[in-house]
Amino acid sequence: MTTHTITPPSSSTPRAVRGRVLHFLRDPQYHDDACQYWEDGVLVIADGHIVAAGDYTALSGTIPANAEVIDHRGKLIVPGFIDTHVHYPQTDMIASPSPGLLHWLDTYTFPEERRFAEPAYAAAVAGFFVDELLRNGTTSALVWSTVHATSADALFGEGQRRNVRLATGKVLMDRHCPAFLRDTAESGARESADLISRWHGKGRLAYAITPRFAPTSSEAQLASCGELARAYPDTLIQTHVAENRDEIRWVSELFPQARSYLDVYDGYGLLRPGAVYGHCIYLDDEDRRRMADTGAAVAHCPTSNLFLGSGLYDFQQSDVHRLQLTLGTDVGGGTSFSMLRTMNAAHKVARMGGYHLSALRMFFLATRGGADALGWSDRVGSFLPGNEADFIVLDPAATPLLERRSARSTTLEEQLFAFALLGDDRAVDQVYVMGEAASPVKSAAAATAAT
Ligand code: GUN
Ligand code: ZN
Repeated sequence: MTTHTITPPSSSTPRAVRGRVLHFLRDPQYHDDACQYWEDGVLVIADGHIVAAGDYTALSGTIPANAEVIDHRGKLIVPGFIDTHVHYPQTDMIASPSPGLLHWLDTYTFPEERRFAEPAYAAAVAGFFVDELLRNGTTSALVWSTVHATSADALFGEGQRRNVRLATGKVLMDRHCPAFLRDTAESGARESADLISRWHGKGRLAYAITPRFAPTSSEAQLASCGELARAYPDTLIQTHVAENRDEIRWVSELFPQARSYLDVYDGYGLLRPGAVYGHCIYLDDEDRRRMADTGAAVAHCPTSNLFLGSGLYDFQQSDVHRLQLTLGTDVGGGTSFSMLRTMNAAHKVARMGGYHLSALRMFFLATRGGADALGWSDRVGSFLPGNEADFIVLDPAATPLLERRSARSTTLEEQLFAFALLGDDRAVDQVYVMGEAASPVKSAAAATAAT
């Protein structure tokens, strides 16, 4: 098994990384000047941070004489991808066939999540998981753990070892799930507060308050989530909403007083900036207004929505309300760790709704859009000076077919579209975290998960 180690910061030796450089300042759906692109571009990096990004000739005079120059000419340098919805404990049950969400949870998900009570098991999967993110060019993520506080500890530990920007939280669920995965409103809140005190803001790590979804939390537990959200206003919040028709029916029975599924969360003060709602397929206009007004974000998870037959995200209505949109793989309901494959599926979901999702926008959503939603855009997601130097190098000739299609591309949009529709982990040539190459190495320590 391979693990990714970050070459220790040898020194503060500055670096200049040359290639085709692209990043986004805003959403290209609404702005003409959304991105900056330099065909012969360069990133100037010092102490793991971006000093400058721009045209090589224009910036060459500013590159320090002692800089190490890394040449990726011909390849595309973009900010590391940001996956805003992914379950690390579901890594080993990805691709489990099921007629739909609720059966899939009962049959595969809950039994697998039970295993994360064992810290050694959790740590082994967490290590593989972060390596797999990196291998796919994902350098930041908002991740789900399990109900066990130790499962969040395990992921924070592995994230810290690899120095990636990552958020997670212990899942909160105190009803309608197997007893072996159940907490209580009191223990869930106490353990969440303890994890926040130990991990939130530590290095590149952040905490996310994580109620699984309305059906598995009592009203007392949802109220305690609202209290946590108020007590810790700079933490993130993540949950699922309006993913599946059976689930929605269940929520309406459990919460007859709520106007809608989203309204359940709204009633407990869980809509705010930094709150990321997975799926959002069956929102209505009032829900969308509330999402937009409160600054909560959508994690669109297209490979999961197709795999579980959940439904098609409505891009048209999403834009009408200017929802803050991001992309999530939702592994293991989702079928790939690759944000390129996730773009592929998103494009097709949009197409089924008569909507053209451009490649420029897909790359925005997978980088700056995610950073905006998580409140991290002054750190990652773009090459603004001062940001952390997390970036990836995409190879337009990574596969024979991609090479042939790339040779025909006459515009940036066409080249990005080829990456999105034909690319996957094979297109990710290099991954840099805080300016250092994350190189896969054989590691005896990364043992397979004990069973
Ligand atoms: N709803 C509640 N839990 C889950 C989960 O683990 N995955 C997905 N896709 N939906 C959920
Ligand atoms: Zn999910």
